[in-house]
Amino acid sequence: MNRVFIKTYGCQMNERDSEAVAAMLRARGYRIVNDENTCDVMLLNTCSVRDMAEQKAIGKAGHVAQKKKRNPRFILGILGCMAQNRGAQLLDALPDVDLIVGTQKFHQVPDYLDNLRAAQEAGTVLPTRIVDIAEEAGSQNTIREHVLEERQVTAFVSIQQGCNMDCAFCIVPKTRGDERSRPMDQIVRECEELADRGVREITLLGQIVTSYGRRDYTHTGGVTPFVQLLERVNAIPGIKRIRFTSPHPRGFKDDLIAAYGRLEKLCEYVHLPLQSGSDRILRAMNRPYTRERYRQIVDDLRRVRPDMYFSTDIIVGFPGETTEDFEQTRELFDACNYDMAYVFKYSIRTGTPAAELADQVPDDLKEERNQVLLRLLEQNSDRRNATLVGTTQEVLVEGPDKKGVGYMGRTRGNRIVHFAANERLIGELVPVTIKRVSTAVLYGELELAGVER
Ligand code: SAH
Ligand code: F3S
Repeated sequence: MNRVFIKTYGCQMNERDSEAVAAMLRARGYRIVNDENTCDVMLLNTCSVRDMAEQKAIGKAGHVAQKKKRNPRFILGILGCMAQNRGAQLLDALPDVDLIVGTQKFHQVPDYLDNLRAAQEAGTVLPTRIVDIAEEAGSQNTIREHVLEERQVTAFVSIQQGCNMDCAFCIVPKTRGDERSRPMDQIVRECEELADRGVREITLLGQIVTSYGRRDYTHTGGVTPFVQLLERVNAIPGIKRIRFTSPHPRGFKDDLIAAYGRLEKLCEYVHLPLQSGSDRILRAMNRPYTRERYRQIVDDLRRVRPDMYFSTDIIVGFPGETTEDFEQTRELFDACNYDMAYVFKYSIRTGTPAAELADQVPDDLKEERNQVLLRLLEQNSDRRNATLVGTTQEVLVEGPDKKGVGYMGRTRGNRIVHFAANERLIGELVPVTIKRVSTAVLYGELELAGVER
């Protein structure tokens, strides 16, 4: 009766929120299952960043609602960004949905499921629905419980919710609300507990992590609260690696650049959203930096860490983007030599300033620009991988690879490596010499000196 399947759309924050919901439900006696065909409750944790993500979830919900015909006690819930964005209005298109829970109310899901079950037990004839998309002070502190797989080596930790920037294309400030940070002590304690449970790599999560704690903590000696947090996580003995996502170029100041030179656990991999390489479009997007400033951050970081890896987010086809604007993006994209990138075709989001702009770019042109950048990315990535052949990389062993033939782990630069290893090495940092590469994966061999295979 209480087998719950959670399907997650969208970003890593959504993954993390789903995991926290799963942990809370488990504590309440629900079973979390991985097979959607054997569940009694299905929760869709949704994304609103692009129209396609919303359409996917709506399609899925419509399809799943059929299950109610066979099993009237089946419960279908929609959580997260689309729930927040569309609220009770979703019920017009999806009348069979039982539960709609916004981004500040994830922690209420166990109560709401209990209530829905109780109403069913009591034999309520009419369908009972629950819709809660209210704001809640302190809700950022409720995303803290973890469900860890056996021997799980990496974990996400939410440090902040919401965003106060007003990028003209972006729905996130509406779906996630105002920027709110969690207390530093609480985050550090969570990381320590994860380390005690075997986690070795932490990824700190937020919409704009470089602003972390700016209203709650003071700078000490020119060091921002975000870098203070990095220092404290760096000092936890069990934690071996730190990553974070996403920073904003505006917040990438000297103290953070210098941190790459002195915090040994901070991995030399930076996800730095560019969005556009044209100053004119950046201004129209309300992104407060220039291409020159962005390039300077990349160069400064490469000065501190010559082996720095970069990834980025780009939007092609923002309203008014001309061939010349795109050329500027292409040129900067190439110059930055990204190892990884997420290229998005601009998607109109009702309620954002850019949705009102004339000069929308036709779809086929967006697709063409998208392909240009993806080809460049593949070339850059292949070039990087080719330079890794013959080198020895520090790899954190995560577990068996998907095919079950060997083991997999990641380099500090976030490259996936497959190699032969031993179960005992899960959670260890080991030296692996790279023998051959594909676009997505490196294949290597463990260096034997001092390590028992
Ligand atoms: N601050 C968050 C941004 C969340 S949205 C972060 O960096 O993680 C993630 C990415 O989606 C953005 O960086 C942007 O590149 C893309 N995006 C946001 N709104 C979009 C839209 N309307 N159309 C296409 N892509 C969009
Ligand atoms: Fe969106 Fe810009 Fe914030 S991309 S999440 S409004 S920094």
